[in-house]
Amino acid sequence: MFVLNELTRNLPSHVPFVGPETLERERSAPFVSRLGANESVFGPSQKAIEAMQREAVKVWRYGDPENHDLRQALAKHLGVKDAEIIIGEGIDGLLGYLTRMIVRPGTKVVTSLGAYPTFSYHVTGYGGELINVPYRDNYEDIEALLEAADHHQASLVYLANPDNPMGTFHQASVISDAIQRVPETCLLIIDEAYFECVPDQNVPPLNPDDQRVIRMRTFSKTYGMAGARVGYAIAHRDLVAAFNRVRNHFGMCRISQEGALAALDDQDHISRTQMRIAESKNIIMKIAESNDLDTIDSAANFVAINCGRDGEFAQRVLQSLSRQGVFVRMPFVAPLNQCIRVTVGPKSDMLVLEQALPKALCDARA
Ligand SMILES: Cc1ncc(COP(=O)(O)O)c(C=O)c1O
Repeated sequence: MFVLNELTRNLPSHVPFVGPETLERERSAPFVSRLGANESVFGPSQKAIEAMQREAVKVWRYGDPENHDLRQALAKHLGVKDAEIIIGEGIDGLLGYLTRMIVRPGTKVVTSLGAYPTFSYHVTGYGGELINVPYRDNYEDIEALLEAADHHQASLVYLANPDNPMGTFHQASVISDAIQRVPETCLLIIDEAYFECVPDQNVPPLNPDDQRVIRMRTFSKTYGMAGARVGYAIAHRDLVAAFNRVRNHFGMCRISQEGALAALDDQDHISRTQMRIAESKNIIMKIAESNDLDTIDSAANFVAINCGRDGEFAQRVLQSLSRQGVFVRMPFVAPLNQCIRVTVGPKSDMLVLEQALPKALCDARA
């Protein structure tokens, strides 16, 4: 007979996201367009696919627990030392490890109300106390986040830049200034999952000597490898070393390690994908506009479309889209939940969206 610890007994019995596969099983049909999970429908580099195919025959071997080659390659690519890079099972996995290292029951942690929920999920899982700061005009409110971190003597403060679910973005100078003002005993997590989508890559230079901040990035978005589960973080070498005390040493799949290496080496693919993301965002904005809907300016690979009424209305739009075979998601909390969030995709997907949205609005109004 098992006995759950008190913490686990009292946790909600759900994970942050219902996957599209679950929804497909519920509707007994696959989606026609998968535009809800901010994956890259444009896919990975052909070179990465070939590298993963080559590595598949060696899958009987564990992956390299040091992630040596990928850390070396990333260090070179980013201009930092390999001791300043930690690799893990996506940003989600790294957020879990970091939370485990820092949060114990009662530890105060600051995030934005309605921000990327997997972080809060980990914090709650380790018994941390979340302080949720509202968005300001669809932006994560940096001033309020820092103020709350200071006021509550928080140990962690989380900021996604660009943000998910709104796609908004703070310029490099704003972030640099924020880093200077992180309270002494607090670590700032900057989640840069969508960093490659940022126009001009306007983010502060990496400075792993700075103990106040950890920057997290991923191969899931612009690199188009969400299913491979490869994320990395750049931080002070002591913090990176601490991950080795808790991380799952054989957590990385060797096929993914090889795929990420090849993907990193194919920056032409990234440039092409960046162009396609920008093009598709324009198309989504035009589709919204032709339905008299506003959009939020996005620096990510998705666009939040304001459905113009409350969360229930947006939910009905989303449900109709789903019935028509279009998978999209929406923010969880008011007032952000007036929006639906549509991931970019190829023209064929945009066509499906263009045809489905007017009917979804009509259904929602009925
Ligand atoms: C802000 C943010 N962080 C992290 C992730 C997950 O990244 P990964 O696939 O590397 O775990 C996502 C995915 O949607 C995201 O939006």
